[in-house]
Amino acid sequence: MNRTRRLRKNENIRRLVRENRVTVDDLIYPIFIEEGNQIESEIESMPGINRYSLDTISKELDEVVALKIPAVLLFGIPASKDDEGSNTWDDNGIVQQAIRFIKKNYPGLYVISDICFCEYTNHGHCGVIHDNDVDNDATLINLAKQSLSHAKAGADMLAPSGMLDGAIITMREALDHAGYYDLPIMGYSVKFASAFYGPFRDAADSTPTFGDRRTYQMDPPNRDEAHREAFYDDQEGADILMVKPALSYLDIIRDLKDQFDKPIACYNVSGEYSMIKAASMQDWIDEKRVMMESLTSMKRAGADIIITYFAKDVAKLLNNE
Ligand code: PBG
Repeated sequence: MNRTRRLRKNENIRRLVRENRVTVDDLIYPIFIEEGNQIESEIESMPGINRYSLDTISKELDEVVALKIPAVLLFGIPASKDDEGSNTWDDNGIVQQAIRFIKKNYPGLYVISDICFCEYTNHGHCGVIHDNDVDNDATLINLAKQSLSHAKAGADMLAPSGMLDGAIITMREALDHAGYYDLPIMGYSVKFASAFYGPFRDAADSTPTFGDRRTYQMDPPNRDEAHREAFYDDQEGADILMVKPALSYLDIIRDLKDQFDKPIACYNVSGEYSMIKAASMQDWIDEKRVMMESLTSMKRAGADIIITYFAKDVAKLLNNE
């Protein structure tokens, strides 16, 4: 008889044959930075996650560094918004200030900046609006300006999240031309128009005031198209390919891992985080086990890197084991 149970007898042997594990080295922690003073406001739909202003953020960053989390992903919330999101390419914009602050005070922390417009536009869309839709090529011009400004501020990596056609090549050319040929780009290569982003939009004040994002983000049922999106980003020079969200798209993560010879990241998004937090607050599930089981499933699917609001919780758990 085939006896697969022999290798499950106790925890020692299970540890020896375990195929996938999440480590702190895999994690990127998203941080929300709001323009202003003395801000530390909990995001109601994301228990444990706060928005900070620059004068209160050190507490959070001290913890991230102490927990040995390698990288943070920055999202800015500006004091004022406009049509085009011009704060994104202002060298004194909120994210630029944050990048300079972190690189100066926490030089060992790797800083990735989200490159997008939706938190900065008064309509909440990810670019310039013409005829009630995001104008792709008009937005690319601003995307290049934003990228250069973040590069100048000292970001270690840029991550464009707007799902515009040609974003990667536009950024790569602008960066190379200005001498930033060593600055990597992580493409939000396969980003779906997902309802799982709900809590993030509360967090970042980025809900569109009209319409939705379906003309630029991908249609959730599509798998072949995901390959196409990743293929273009790969060709255009993305250094890392990302799938977002993670849990409902594990098949896509596996596809990309098998099909592309580049590191694959996934974004364990706000809704995935909030569901686990909410259920565990009711004592309906065991939070730590469900957290680890979900994150491990992303590794098993093929993710090399996981962007997650659980990063600190995971690091605390693993450091205490
Ligand atoms: C901005 C952006 C979004 C997220 C990351 N970058 C929201 C969106 O596309 O509406 C979602 C992150 C999350 O839900 O955790 N383009």
